[in-house]
Amino acid sequence: MALSCHRQTGACRPAARSSRRAAPRPSTAVVAATASAVPASKLIDGKGIAETIRSEIAKEVAVMKQQHGLTPGLAVVLVGSRKDSETYVRSKKKACAEVGFDSYGSDLPADVSEEEVLKVVEAYNADPRVHGILVQLPLPKHISEKRILDAISIEKDVDGFHPLNIGSLAMRGRDPLFVPCTPKGCIELLERCKVPISGRKACVIGRSNIVGMPAALLLQRRDATVTMVHSKTPDGQRICAEADIVIAACGVAEMVTGDWIKPGAVVIDVGINAKDDPTAKKGYRLVGDVEFESAAAKASLITPVPGGVGPMTIAMLLQNTLESARRAVTGEKVAGH
Ligand code: GUN
Repeated sequence: MALSCHRQTGACRPAARSSRRAAPRPSTAVVAATASAVPASKLIDGKGIAETIRSEIAKEVAVMKQQHGLTPGLAVVLVGSRKDSETYVRSKKKACAEVGFDSYGSDLPADVSEEEVLKVVEAYNADPRVHGILVQLPLPKHISEKRILDAISIEKDVDGFHPLNIGSLAMRGRDPLFVPCTPKGCIELLERCKVPISGRKACVIGRSNIVGMPAALLLQRRDATVTMVHSKTPDGQRICAEADIVIAACGVAEMVTGDWIKPGAVVIDVGINAKDDPTAKKGYRLVGDVEFESAAAKASLITPVPGGVGPMTIAMLLQNTLESARRAVTGEKVAGH
């Protein structure tokens, strides 16, 4: 079942470990820590953890090819030419190649009709080489996201966005076939860092279908007491400041400052925003939804941006696709879900 994202061992903070080597090549986490004066021991090294997961996946893919002659396949549908979406799709295809997956791509023009997109999805639904289908969001306004997501076979819904998968995630006693990748990555980081979730207070900031809502459901399934804070919540800061675990996914650069963080809390920052910075080579730098320095001063553990949640999203997509391919190997019946 998808929720048993197999708990792999893996260091929470490889950065701290690498500093004990004779001639350490600093990881991103160490660099970030040096630049921001935040101790490396506080940083959750998502980049390192995602690398560990990807190498585990690559090993399993090699065995699957050799023993069963099966190569996991991911189909990625991109509509239009949004620069951010193009970048994400490129990274996803590159990650597929690196672990030995086949990837299939359909790049459709921004003015493609909804019916054409549906035809593409149907073709991938019927293609046995394809174990996972991902339609990059957002879609152009004239295309119904609802219709497209509903059309993806739930057995290939590696994004976990199909209402049947989300519905199963929300219900006690049911297990979705797939869990959305970014929230799954957040939980994986908490688990690998051995952060207790059961019985803890968690605050999720943001209520999007892609991150906030499924993140809250995943925390609740692990017996956290979850509060969701969103744009209409009066005094979100006060609520957040009571939480042991904070997942920030509001899409507002550096909104969550240190005043929002309870001393010792664990902070997972999902945001990725460009902030003007004349001192940076590109004229901007990436920041999260959390103001890193002030929040890190209060937190016991915190994800950096970049190098925190971002790499985990792709690792979880690969994990979901591999899980789907495993089901193809074992012939596991998933119908009836
Ligand atoms: N757009 C932003 N995040 C995601 C994601 O996780 N999956 C898809 N399909 N689109 C996205």
